[in-house]
Order: sequence, then C-alpha cells, then structure tokens
Amino acid sequence: MREYFIKGGNRLCGNVTVQGSKNSALPIIACAVMSGEKQVIHNVPLIDDVFSLINIFEQYGVVFQLNGHTLTVEQSNLSEVIIDPDMSKKLRSSSYLIGAILPNLKRLYLPIIGGCSLGLRPLDIHFRGFEALGGELFKENIIVGEKVLPYTVMKWERMIPTIIYLRYPSVGATINLLMLSSRMEGEVVIVNAGVEPEVKAVIDYLKKLGVVISGNKILKVRGKSRLKSAIEYINGDRIVVGDILLSVCATSGDCEVGGFESNEILPLLSKITKSPCKVSVKSDKIRLSIRSPLKVIAETAPYPGFPTDLQAQLSVAILASNGIGVVRENIFENRFKYVNELQKMGARTKVKGNTLYLMSSKLVGQRVTAPDLRGGSALVIAGLVARGYTNVENISLIERGYENLPDLYSRLGGEIKAIE
Ligand code: EPU
Repeated sequence: MREYFIKGGNRLCGNVTVQGSKNSALPIIACAVMSGEKQVIHNVPLIDDVFSLINIFEQYGVVFQLNGHTLTVEQSNLSEVIIDPDMSKKLRSSSYLIGAILPNLKRLYLPIIGGCSLGLRPLDIHFRGFEALGGELFKENIIVGEKVLPYTVMKWERMIPTIIYLRYPSVGATINLLMLSSRMEGEVVIVNAGVEPEVKAVIDYLKKLGVVISGNKILKVRGKSRLKSAIEYINGDRIVVGDILLSVCATSGDCEVGGFESNEILPLLSKITKSPCKVSVKSDKIRLSIRSPLKVIAETAPYPGFPTDLQAQLSVAILASNGIGVVRENIFENRFKYVNELQKMGARTKVKGNTLYLMSSKLVGQRVTAPDLRGGSALVIAGLVARGYTNVENISLIERGYENLPDLYSRLGGEIKAIE
C-alpha cells in the first residue's frame, strides 16, 4: 500500500499557486453534463474525486476529453443505466447525478452515495426540494449482477416552479436544486440557500449557460429548456490555501500563496491574525509570515463562518505552534477521528462532545492512518512539524482531493514523498 513518508522539522517557506477547487470542479462538471451541450472547463484539479465522477458520467454515455487540466464535455446524449454503488460510494458528489441526469432522462436510479464518513450525511433536503418541484421518489431493490441492491428511484414528469425552503443551507442540496431549476421554465425560488464560494461558482457558471439567477440567501432561478455552450475556469481551492497557511503557522514559516479569490479565506485569516504575524492580502494572493503561537477559539459554521474542511488542519496548527485552543465542530457529527492519530504523535488534546480542547504539544513522528480527506491532510501537516519521521497510511483518501501533496510541500521546503 502506498503511504507518505515525511521527515519533520523544516520551516515551510516559498511561493506556490494552488490547484483548482475540488468542491467547485465537481458540481461544475455535473452542470456541464446537465446542459446537454459541448462545454470546456479549464483548471480542473487532477484528483481522484474528479476521475471518479467522470467515470460515473461515462457510464451514461457522456464523452469527455481531458487534456492537461482542461476538460471538454464532447457529447452528452445520455442513456439510462443503473450505476454500481461501488462507484457512487467513492464520493459524495455522486449525489450530483440528481441535478445532472433528471432534467435530461426524467428518471434516475440513485445508488447509495458515499464520501468521507463524517457523520450521517442524509439526502433529505435534496429529496424534499425535488418533491417540491414535482418529482416523485421511492425506494426499490434492484438486482445488479449477483447482488440485490437498494436504490432510490426518482421520476420527474411534471415540473412545478415553486418556492422551496431548505431547513438547513446545504451546499449539495442548493447546487442540485439550482441544476434542476436551470432546465425548467418559470421561476423557482430557493429560500435559505447555501452561500459557500462553491455555490457561487456554480451560479456564475449557470449564468454563462443562459440561466437567469438573482439573489444570494434567497435565490430566484429562471431556467431554459435549452442551454448554451461556455468556457469556464475553476477558481483556486480555498481549502488548499488554508492547508498551506496553517502549515506555515505550524512550522513558523513564510509563504506566498496565489491563484485564488482571497476574500474566501478571510474566515481563516481572521483567526490567524489574532496572533502577531506579517500578512499581506491582495485580491488573488496572500503572503503570511508567522512565528507566534496560535491562540484560537473557533467553531465551524456555514460560510462565511469557519469552514469545517479546515477544522482538523487548524487544530494541528494550534498544537504545533505551541498555542492553545478550543475548536467546536457544528456541521458534521464525526469529524474528530484524526485526534486519536494525533495523540499517538504526542498531542495533548481532550474531546468533549463536539468540542476539542488543544494544548501546546511537542509532536513526534509516528505511523498514523488518514481517517478521511481533511483529517489526513492535517496529519500530513503534523508530520511536517514533528520531530523525526512520520508515515501516513491510507493516502488514497487524501488523493481524492489533493493533487500531489508531496510536490506542493516539497516546493515549500518540506520533506515528504509517497512510497510503496
Ligand atoms: N445535511 C442533511 N441533509 C441533507 C444534506 C445535508 O442533514 O439533505 C447535513 C449533512 O449531514 C451535514 C450538513 O447538513 O451535517 C452539511 O452538509 P452539506 O450538504 O452542506 O455538505 P455537502 O454538500 O455534503 C460539501 C462539501 C464538503 C463540505 C460541506 C460543508 C462537496 C463535495 N463536499 O458537502 O466537503 O464539508 O459541503 O461545507 O462539495 C471535503 O471537501 O472534505 C468535504 C467534506
């Protein structure tokens, strides 16, 4: 099995540009399929989640061409298939089949959806919105090869423009409902929509395809039966920017990161800059130099709150910088699995319910296992700081979202490589 081998202790210094955003690229690929037209998308991150989603759409007959970081949807004449859940269990974004397939085929056999195991992650908000738009759904067991597997059958014959209230501003549900509304005539209103930058990226793209969308927390959408072709560019990944800035905090480093919309990282910067540091923020890059301990109280919340996808990396940066902190996780029920691994490295922590207490710790190299994508990335940062050598196992989870993490950190002076 492949793993990362890390020699800790180097300050991270230098300049880097980040990869395209995973959580924007995935729904934008789904929107491209939904459009039924030829589409070109630049700056697509070359990560396993993108390859898995492309594989799923290929089952439906979509033809893609990937040239470097440019993905072209050549043709999307879809035909009905029953996806093997072994494919859909690989990623949460297989839920975007709802928005991509239903406007075209009017029927979908939705398999069990996967993704990092961070908690229950139901799809009720997606389903209630779909039903409000006139969709019908029911559960059915279907024979696939030698197995009988559970599917949600979704049918969409009568489309009803309406007002939908989301009980929680779910990112995925907002995006699915935007996609469904984009091919309907009449106005759909989505109340309590997610406002994450990834939702905004999808809205900007749908507008290029000809959909009329206004609003923010309350979205008004006027779709078209036929959409246009467009060329899109995926913005830099704000979470990867956060990883880099927090690895700088953890190693008393000095870095410039570019290639993203800097406003998107202000929820994190507001926590870092409470400690003495030098920071310069331009519209598409940030320079951070810091040698002070982080003292942070943070709780995760929907945007512009502190992002749950940086919770684990923040915790490592607090510990490793000799700081102290209290971090509360409000979005997912089960996002502290990395803490056990950190304790093996000498971390002084205590978990009480959804709150993690952190005390400055001297981390030492260990063999640890990535429990999920972001928890794995946090363990890599811990390894870059720790005394001695760290092996991070289960890196296939990390590679779902990061395009060559060893290369990224090596460019900043970290010693990390993937080994067999
Ligand atoms: N939720 C429900 N019912 C639903 C939908 C969501 O109860 O129908 C709950 C979830 O269980 C969770 C909360 O609402 O507790 C937030 O879920 P949301 O739908 O907003 O998240 P998501 O669309 O499943 C995306 C990202 C996550 C990121 C969250 C929050 C993608 C592919 N995933 O997930 O990213 O943490 O938004 O910002 O865009 C990651 O990249 O590592 C990652 C987990």
